[in-house]
Amino acid sequence: MLSRADNNFGFAIAAGLGLFAIGGLLTTVAPPMLDKTWAQPFENSDPAKGPTGKLQPYTPQQLEGRAVYVREGCWYCHTQQTRTLLADTKRSGWRGVDSPVSTPDEFVYDSPHLFGTKRTGPDLSRVGGKYDEQWHRTHFRNPRDLVPGSIMPPYPWIASNEKEFKAIVAYLQTLGRAKNWRPQNDFEN
Ligand code: HEC
Repeated sequence: MLSRADNNFGFAIAAGLGLFAIGGLLTTVAPPMLDKTWAQPFENSDPAKGPTGKLQPYTPQQLEGRAVYVREGCWYCHTQQTRTLLADTKRSGWRGVDSPVSTPDEFVYDSPHLFGTKRTGPDLSRVGGKYDEQWHRTHFRNPRDLVPGSIMPPYPWIASNEKEFKAIVAYLQTLGRAKNWRPQNDFEN
């Protein structure tokens, strides 16, 4: 038996667009309207969960570093989102401590966001504080010097441009720091 959508082209198109709009509203427009915490910067007011404080807006230097990250296409290979998967929380973890899952309140100052889509390299959402400046310089100059077999391209022009290098490291060190989930043993710069 043919249904109305089989016989009537206009109806099929209208029904398709209607369903698409409902799906879009339910998954993208409604959630932030119903849950207002999405637009609030993350804040830790519980001293038991590490140093208290609020997610801070990027400084001009961090913003410059973020622009270098965008310009160089780091996001082609790196995501910035720890998903609700064991593999993610373990991979982003630190000395036996699993990392927390990413939440919208960590990204309120990220416009446009750099979640990325392709996980060619490891996720960077918790990389802040993991390595010091010297490590990053060597890694940008030639990743293979630190990680044999790494397929990350070398970025010698970042390693040798002091202003850009300091800026991108300042930006990378902010990633995942708001939650203070591993306050010990972090590298500040
Ligand atoms: C072609 C894909 C690719 C691109 C583009 C790329 N990376 Fe990587 N990156 C990787 C891979 C693969 C690794 C894992 C091996 C390694 O550490 O070198 C990695 C590792 C890293 C790590 C260490 C992560 C950890 O948890 O150990 C950092 C930090 C990093 N990349 C930053 C960057 C930045 C910043 C850029 C842009 C300037 C960039 N990457 C561009 C593929 C890429």
